[in-house]
Amino acid sequence: MPHLVSWLDTPPDVWTRCLERALVHHEQRRWSQAAQHKALGLLFFASSLRTRTSMELAATHLGAHSITLNPGQGVWGFEWRDHGPNGEPITMDRDAAEHIREAVGVLSRYVDALGVRVFASLTDRDEDLADALIHRIVAASDVPVVNLESARWHPCQELGDAATIRMHFSEQSTLPTGKNFVLTWAPHPKPLPRAVPNSALLMAARLGMHVTVARPDGFALDADILDAAHETAQHAGGSVAETTDLDAALAADGGAHVVYAKAWHGDAVYDAPDNEAILRAQHADWKLTPERMAATDDGIFMHCLPVRRGVVVDGAVLDGPHARHLLQAEFRLHAQKAILEWVWGLDGRGAWV
Ligand code: CP
Repeated sequence: MPHLVSWLDTPPDVWTRCLERALVHHEQRRWSQAAQHKALGLLFFASSLRTRTSMELAATHLGAHSITLNPGQGVWGFEWRDHGPNGEPITMDRDAAEHIREAVGVLSRYVDALGVRVFASLTDRDEDLADALIHRIVAASDVPVVNLESARWHPCQELGDAATIRMHFSEQSTLPTGKNFVLTWAPHPKPLPRAVPNSALLMAARLGMHVTVARPDGFALDADILDAAHETAQHAGGSVAETTDLDAALAADGGAHVVYAKAWHGDAVYDAPDNEAILRAQHADWKLTPERMAATDDGIFMHCLPVRRGVVVDGAVLDGPHARHLLQAEFRLHAQKAILEWVWGLDGRGAWV
């Protein structure tokens, strides 16, 4: 059964087909009945504007029906752990009324796929590194599960972003391969998960771009993800480097062609969250400005949204001609149509209508 937790677990040809298919959906903007009589359940354990709207519409565009549920808000609160703190079988004597095993087991009998959003805890490192909750949901599900952002990955964002970049370079009659991609840490008043930067890094590596991750000391991405990105980029003709000098990264090798900004939490968030907050506040000068963008090679600006104006990036960049954040958001719809077609087996057998 096809699940999409991370593109790393998915055969490369599925990624390639979904990417091409997302570009076709963008071009055709066609509704179909390809998934008529299918139902999509959407479980949002965290807030969303783009993912919720685009996923509901992706189902609608394919002729399917979607149902959105927010656990704890009009739906029972869910327990997902099987054991208590001392390894004993779980006793559900607190707020949660329903275990994820029953909840997902039931939903699997109603719907043909589940989309799930479960953010990182930012309090339990092992749990976050294991992406524990989404894997529990996958284990309990009898239907395909699509990750709508988990502790470590945001594969729908990743595919939409890849399509955005492909389209940008195709307008210049070229490919992203060999182009310069800067993924830059950005200031933020809150510690944010790393799902999007992890996914953006792998996405650019997969496109064969020369990727530079710019971030302050104490904000390195996880070593296993950097290793995977190195290997992926090498296979695709690109490379991955890290720096603590954002301005040098933007201007290096003739200048960045794509600048992807995202706030993410520092290493200390699990063990010393107060220190992490102090360190994060010390780097407010990492904000992207028009002057910084001017050092690039006519580079485009990308952000997954939501974005804090004046904190992550100046409004002048967001409102300027190089911004692609709204196109990224649009491509979420096209990308998720492609993903639903894949998980429902509507692809590859002449059913790409
Ligand atoms: N980029 C993204 O996933 O947006 P939402 O959190 O609004 O869904």
